[in-house]
Amino acid sequence: MKGIILAGGSGTRLYPLTRVTSKQLLPVYDKPMIHYPLSVLMLAGLREILVISTPEELPRFRALLGDGSAYGIRLDYAPQPTPAGLAQAFLIGEAFLDGDDAAMVLGDNLFYGAGLTAMLEAAAANRGRATVFGYAVEDPTRFGVVEFDDDGRVVSVEEKPKEPKSDYALTGLYFFDRRAPAFAKELAPSARGELEIVDLMRKYLERGELDVKLLGRGYSWLDCGTMDDLLDAAEFVRMIERRQGIKISSPEEIAYRRGWISREELLRDAEGQGKSQYGAYLRRVAQERFAPGGPSRPQGRKAGQP
Ligand code: G1P
Repeated sequence: MKGIILAGGSGTRLYPLTRVTSKQLLPVYDKPMIHYPLSVLMLAGLREILVISTPEELPRFRALLGDGSAYGIRLDYAPQPTPAGLAQAFLIGEAFLDGDDAAMVLGDNLFYGAGLTAMLEAAAANRGRATVFGYAVEDPTRFGVVEFDDDGRVVSVEEKPKEPKSDYALTGLYFFDRRAPAFAKELAPSARGELEIVDLMRKYLERGELDVKLLGRGYSWLDCGTMDDLLDAAEFVRMIERRQGIKISSPEEIAYRRGWISREELLRDAEGQGKSQYGAYLRRVAQERFAPGGPSRPQGRKAGQP
């Protein structure tokens, strides 16, 4: 399975912040927003990932993330000349996918919670079907919404319905199979002129091949669609990181713990982070006695060290 990060869009809802930069490059506390969805795909075990953005912004993403070797993965880049809906990503990504199963995450989505890795790995292993995620929200009209019958079977998926049939939003994380580009080609633009991701899901639903996994209250799912969302996400990350002395969604740390990069490579990555707290954190991870895959607390850390 290969992964796609969709980091396009004009981001007008965040003007003037996004007048000269991409939304997905804005900070969420201590790292660029795209680190969070990138980490999600890496936690799912994916090592070949395509970043899609506007032709203007794509070089900035490439400058930030490079060819992926710092994370022990391969990163490719493809432009989205004009935004025509989320499902368009599978048309743009068709050559990259080259017949492989395909996962996609939106570049402004942040996931956090115990058991997340196992859940992501299970979704990636669910071959020949689609897996998407539902999350109870206060205002479902802002999102794709999934409807269930009394037996918990999926009945419908709708994009930003005025009268939502449930409180369950569909998150911006999708695990499809190798048919995703072919299904995307069959889609007609919606009333708002977009190739809708819910229409692509419906292709699987019609065949009885759509699995919707509910993320319970132990999970956090945040997106960064508005100024307040952006600040909420930053506060969330800041609070947990400061309390626990860890970093959420560090691609270098994930790569190291998965054994995709060596301790030496991690230390080299840390050097590239200059005098930042982030660099100090990576050095700390590299010094753990039982890493990779070991406890996330460093051994023998002196009080007050980052
Ligand atoms: C998109 C999807 C929507 C989903 C949301 C999650 O909406 O179209 O189905 O619930 O992402 O972040 P957007 O935020 O692009 O308006």
